[in-house]
Amino acid sequence: MTKSVIALDHIELTLGSGASSVHVLKGISLNINYGQSVGIVGPSGSGKSTLLMVLAGLEHVDSGSVQIAGEKLESMSEDQIAAFRGRNIGIVFQSFHLIPNMTALENVAVPLELAGNPDAFGIAENVLAAVGLADRITHYPGELSGGEQQRVAIARALAPSPKILIADEPTGNLDTATGRQITDLLFEKQKEFGVTLVLVTHDATLAARCDREIRVRSGLIEADEHAPELAKSA
Ligand SMILES: Nc1ncnc2c1ncn2[C@@H]1O[C@H](COP(=O)(O)OP(=O)(O)O)[C@@H](O)[C@H]1O
Ligand SMILES: [Mg+2]
Repeated sequence: MTKSVIALDHIELTLGSGASSVHVLKGISLNINYGQSVGIVGPSGSGKSTLLMVLAGLEHVDSGSVQIAGEKLESMSEDQIAAFRGRNIGIVFQSFHLIPNMTALENVAVPLELAGNPDAFGIAENVLAAVGLADRITHYPGELSGGEQQRVAIARALAPSPKILIADEPTGNLDTATGRQITDLLFEKQKEFGVTLVLVTHDATLAARCDREIRVRSGLIEADEHAPELAKSA
């Protein structure tokens, strides 16, 4: 139990209201260990992104329990959850979500600075160098390629040294070669930073590189396989 950085106990969630409400998560229980890489796959609309939002405390479950790094999210206030997320969880999106009127350096440093880090710009510069962008720090997102923008987003996610890195289709907006570079970077930094990686992907090759692959269907876990078992069944 102490090894779990993520512990979900029978979580259920319905989104929307009235006729348009959707029972998205239908009772998911899941434990993920510190430092593990987990690939989440499944059909479009099966609840993958919603599951990530729950892990990040950005959606609240209707029932069940969400424990992250030993803390139960349901016992925290919104402000506490926001602060907890800032310290513990980095998020990377398919569409990068950078702030267009901030440079690469500012995109990484400003959230750190807002969190009260006295060395925000020093850390941001180091992490940007670690993702291969030492010579791009004064560029604005519009002056960077898609792959470079995703590198900035990865740097921003890793800069606070979170315990968990969440990535939702991180290569979905990139060409194959760039997507491969970003994938390599994610796994390299996962090891370097010792972070737990939870990755939603359509890419079977990418999912297969994870320590564990979880298949979601219609709001339920359909399959949950660790790498050695995957290899055996292949
Ligand atoms: N705010 C919302 N209101 C109603 N339904 C929603 C809302 N957000 C997501 N859904 C529905 O929940 C289901 C799961 O969505 P999502 O988690 O984004 O799936 P995935 O990431 O696996 O494609 C979909 O059917 C989607 O239409
Ligand atoms: Mg999705």
